[in-house]
Amino acid sequence: MNVMVIGGGGREHALAWKLKQSPRVERVYCVPGNAGMRKICEVVPVGMQDFKGLAAFAKAHEVGLTVVGPEEPLCGGIVNVFQNAGLRIFGPSSAGAQLEGSKVFAKRFMERYGIPTARFEVFEDVEKAVEYVRKQGAPLVVKADGLAGGKGVSVCESVGEAEEAVRAMLERQVFGAAGRRILIEEYLDGEEASVLALTDGKAIVALEPAQDHKRVYDNDQGPNTGGMGAYSPAPVVTPRVMRVIEEKVLQRFLLGIQREKIDYRGVIYAGLMIKGEEVRVLEFNVRFGDPEAQAILPRLRSDLSEVCMATVEGRLSGVKLVWDARPAVCVVMASGGYPGAYHKHLPITGLEEAERMADVVVFHAGTEEVKGALVTNGGRVLGVTALGRTMAEAVERAYEAVERIHFEHAHFRWDIGAKAVR
Ligand code: AMP
Ligand code: GLY
Repeated sequence: MNVMVIGGGGREHALAWKLKQSPRVERVYCVPGNAGMRKICEVVPVGMQDFKGLAAFAKAHEVGLTVVGPEEPLCGGIVNVFQNAGLRIFGPSSAGAQLEGSKVFAKRFMERYGIPTARFEVFEDVEKAVEYVRKQGAPLVVKADGLAGGKGVSVCESVGEAEEAVRAMLERQVFGAAGRRILIEEYLDGEEASVLALTDGKAIVALEPAQDHKRVYDNDQGPNTGGMGAYSPAPVVTPRVMRVIEEKVLQRFLLGIQREKIDYRGVIYAGLMIKGEEVRVLEFNVRFGDPEAQAILPRLRSDLSEVCMATVEGRLSGVKLVWDARPAVCVVMASGGYPGAYHKHLPITGLEEAERMADVVVFHAGTEEVKGALVTNGGRVLGVTALGRTMAEAVERAYEAVERIHFEHAHFRWDIGAKAVR
């Protein structure tokens, strides 16, 4: 079978890498991919937004399964277009993708099905929102309703900061249409973790939990990023906590999509805040996490192509996932300046030396090949993943690999996985 992966980041490289290992998979096509993916995939000469063009390509090249990485094509309805063309595609329909595309939709969905989450109010009017902020007092969290590339959330420690966030979104419209409607949420404390699960709409199967590191600097300082590293499993998700998540989040989510007749055959990602045994959902994403996928997929022993096919064909209830018990750590190497403006086209060296290490895999994100040389081409450049017998060993190996890789202005955190080791 031929498969196609939509997207070109570290998550998509991990998906393509894992799919390529399947004896059932012949060719892997990527749209648009990156330099690492292009070593194992063939590039599709069609844009990521041209869903009809991609479906035509999939038909012409006998693509038996398409796996979608990022949220934009899912929210844009790529799954609907492929399904209408009779093609197999892994991901939710546009109705299901609303769980990520609209935070208001997601919150109301959680409310309808009793999924625990922070208290919230929805606003479109600046003055009403400001009045509410003043009445509630800080800390508060202000969120743009729509997709804002991971930048639409402000955790505000003072009333002034929250007012400013409200005005930026509703008055100055810094997120455009995505911020025309906002949520103001109760601030939750605790420890964060990500639990991803596969669903075919009938069954739901959790993946091993993971934890992301969203801030750019060590000790969770500095602005939020797409994610500077991840590890799996996440010790904060104890077996008892996992049972709570299964019952109060995953099963209720499943009931919700069934009641609302949402066609959802893909992965649901619950971003969670955990305090003791209390679990609350911060957000839903309708796709694999990036970089969580780079820490989770190297631990998956099962054949990903079979798992995805079972999901798409509604046969998930019989599937039992097999995992490598060893923990994995992924350290993201970013280009200096990220998440702001960053350097580009800087030569990368030392990759082979890193990849030669046992149980190390380097996933490309923002890379490009120019005249046979590998150069940076994005904010997040590489995801360096290592497995270890213990979390401490995985951390040590990952950093040993990172230290073999060089590009000018490289930036990475030194404390990925440190919480799990403690
Ligand atoms: P989200 O995109 O909704 O996950 O928000 C991004 C980040 O903001 C999360 O990973 C949390 O660190 C933080 N965050 C979001 N909502 C809350 C909340 N209600 N309380 C505390 N922190 C939050
Ligand atoms: N790592 C967070 C995300 O993928 O949304």
